[in-house]
Amino acid sequence: MDDKYKCTKIKEIITHNEFNKTFVLDHSFDEAYPGQFAMVWLPGIDEKPISFSAQNEITIKKIGPFTKKAFELKEGDKIWLRGPYGKGYKALDKPYYVFGGGCGIAPLKFFIKKNKATIKTVYLGCRSKTDILFLDDFIKLAEKNNIELTIFTEDGSFGKKGMITDTDEEFSDKYNYAICGPEMMIKAVAEKINIPKQTYVSIERYMKCAVGLCGECSFSGYRVCVDGPVFSYDIVKKLPHFGSKRRTKTGELIDM
Ligand SMILES: Cc1cc2nc3c(=O)[nH]c(=O)nc-3n(C[C@H](O)[C@H](O)[C@H](O)COP(=O)(O)OP(=O)(O)OC[C@H]3O[C@@H](n4cnc5c(N)ncnc54)[C@H](O)[C@@H]3O)c2cc1C
Ligand code: FES
Repeated sequence: MDDKYKCTKIKEIITHNEFNKTFVLDHSFDEAYPGQFAMVWLPGIDEKPISFSAQNEITIKKIGPFTKKAFELKEGDKIWLRGPYGKGYKALDKPYYVFGGGCGIAPLKFFIKKNKATIKTVYLGCRSKTDILFLDDFIKLAEKNNIELTIFTEDGSFGKKGMITDTDEEFSDKYNYAICGPEMMIKAVAEKINIPKQTYVSIERYMKCAVGLCGECSFSGYRVCVDGPVFSYDIVKKLPHFGSKRRTKTGELIDM
């Protein structure tokens, strides 16, 4: 972990669709591992946690003031990052099933690239084909590494029509499970798998310090920035705020 800001230039911008862009950076955060994040600073605007989608890459979804400003950045512009922070997905003894939804697909691409030999199956779920980030990368990774890839789109524009939870696969404790995506999707998938001790999920809460001091990311007593963002589902499923409450930018506890 490095708390100093690293100023780097944007080498390349990949526009996936209207709402998602990947920023390839000049600097490679070689110590970062999948599931970890950086605090990304745009001077005069704000600083926000964004996961690594590769050692020199972040993928941003445009949803509010900070991410809108990030979308105005051009190739060659400077950007400041501190990190990597938090606990990510670890390669474990048993092979993995990986489940990604929405923007959560991006850090999972990093995880799969780093752990090709231990990935058995990848499930991706999106509204429509245009929302599937890194589709070509996933197809190539699956073909080259003998990984089963199943994609669900809600409108049926690619893969199977429906939700990721529509799979009729039976899950066994011979595998580990990694899930990243919206909290309600995480809950639905983890409950379908029903092997909490071998399921790892990534949780998002607002952050300020990212080093465990301010309490902004409090999640039923855990600090997402240092205890997570990747947690065992065995812990998460028992927490009263999971799938129900989060703190606003000003620290107020509200329903999700
Ligand atoms: C560990 C971690 C990793 C993340 N990785 C990524 C990533 O790879 N790519 C990416 O685009 N975003 C990621 N985020 C979310 C990102 O930090 C927010 O999207 C960011 O706050 C948006 O800022 P904004 O000013 O554009 O919008 P805001 O005005 O801050 O947010 C708009 C709305 O989005 C929701 N929201 C935003 N941030 C959060 C949050 N942290 N928890 C719960 N709800 C929230 C709220 O409903 C809010 O009203 C991550 C967050 C965390 C905690
Ligand atoms: S963001 Fe400050 S304690 Fe987690």
